[in-house]
Amino acid sequence: MLGKLIVFEGGEGAGKTTQLISVQTWLNQSGWGDRVAHYTQADFPPIVITREPGGTLLGKGIRKLLLDVTVTGNERLDEQAELLLFAADRAQHVASFLVPHLQAGTLVLCDRYTDSTLAYQGYGRGLDLGLIDQLNQIATQGLESDLTLWLDIEADYGLARTRQREQDPEIQSDRMEANEIAFHQKLRQGFATLAQQHPQRIVRVDAQQPEAQVAQHIQEVMEQHLQEWYP
Ligand code: TYD
Repeated sequence: MLGKLIVFEGGEGAGKTTQLISVQTWLNQSGWGDRVAHYTQADFPPIVITREPGGTLLGKGIRKLLLDVTVTGNERLDEQAELLLFAADRAQHVASFLVPHLQAGTLVLCDRYTDSTLAYQGYGRGLDLGLIDQLNQIATQGLESDLTLWLDIEADYGLARTRQREQDPEIQSDRMEANEIAFHQKLRQGFATLAQQHPQRIVRVDAQQPEAQVAQHIQEVMEQHLQEWYP
């Protein structure tokens, strides 16, 4: 495909959202945005930010089902149901957003993708990794990221950060963030294993550094790839 898919992954409080916005600003200011525009169809944006869950209209509804405890009240969200909702969100996102943009040459910056499901539902919750791989395959139609930046942060450090920050105004209470440190340690181990298995695709970024340093590291990694992709 003409475009490129860059994914930001990490546990809670790794600063993904902040870094995504800072990358977008840097791309536009450094001239890369203009360069990418030469490769992009005129009716599509050169650079977009999107996320999972919630990158489409259907996905926004699914996101609410997944994260808003007020939707299901006391009814516990079954782990398999949760897994399938993430998969449904991804299938819709890939088919109706990612593929058309990538075909048009857009550089897509995506907050979370397939590795989140392996890390959270697989390594975190203990669901079958092979089954998750298959579901990812169905949902993505085989579409892999061109680069995945794993923002790595120690569990207790990341959790402390999430407690300080503002909550998503659309969601009253974040079910996921009610989880404990042990879960996040498993998550982190999961991301580490995935990074080992896919060294050509996943790059670890130390997200415990000050924000500006993390941004700098991300820019360096991106710069290398951009030079190769957009000569
Ligand atoms: P997100 O809004 O990116 O959370 P954060 O801002 O904390 O990074 O994602 C929402 C939650 O959904 C987050 O706790 C991770 C979780 N998640 C999964 O468990 N599996 C998945 O496949 C995805 C995409 C997200």
